[in-house]
Amino acid sequence: MPGLTIGDTVPNLEVETTHGLFKIHDYVGDNWAIMFSHPGDFTPVCTTELGMMAAYAEKFDKLGAKLLGISCDDLQSHNDWIKDIEAYTPGCKVKYPICGDRNGEIIKQLNMVDPDEKDANGKPLPSRALHIVGPNKKVKASFLYPASTGRNMDEVVRVMESLKKAEKHRIATPVNWKPGEPVVISPGVSNERAKEMFPQGFKTVDLPSKKEYLRFTNV
Ligand code: BEZ
Repeated sequence: MPGLTIGDTVPNLEVETTHGLFKIHDYVGDNWAIMFSHPGDFTPVCTTELGMMAAYAEKFDKLGAKLLGISCDDLQSHNDWIKDIEAYTPGCKVKYPICGDRNGEIIKQLNMVDPDEKDANGKPLPSRALHIVGPNKKVKASFLYPASTGRNMDEVVRVMESLKKAEKHRIATPVNWKPGEPVVISPGVSNERAKEMFPQGFKTVDLPSKKEYLRFTNV
């Protein structure tokens, strides 16, 4: 199975979706994209996830990210299922496209196959995979969950916020970081350079090693 991972370019597949036929790179354009697969239409966890994605669409739009859902069912099934999704999550409208993938080729190419889940004919089903893709069409982050575990959309937002901040400044976000909290200065930045890059200042944590590598700042 091809192993699309961080740093790889997403294959420019032509996909059939509820919004028509397009190539993935054209859809991403100059934006970020969140591409997420789900095991199947008319299944409980997936119904909750796709509704929450729709409810969070405005947050992702503010972060410059387009959404693309993927499953192995066909477009007629997706369109029928959208009515259930919208009824379950009040006020949500599924405005993002959902790909059909009846032969499972797209999930294979995007490394979204769950080896433990098969349909009645033995065809592999998608895992709950999610790739965050940058405007350069490269995978910036990936989540990989089994069918039994629904994803946390707040975590997807948090990771997007971290990626965008790290792209703008030479920083990284520490454990359990939330937007607005201090960040750490990247290890490759010397103290001299950090003084120029972060005129607001930074605090170095005094550690037993006396190595000055844990430096917090606000950006
Ligand atoms: C679900 O969405 O609830 C689900 C789908 C496939 C297998 C298990 C759970």
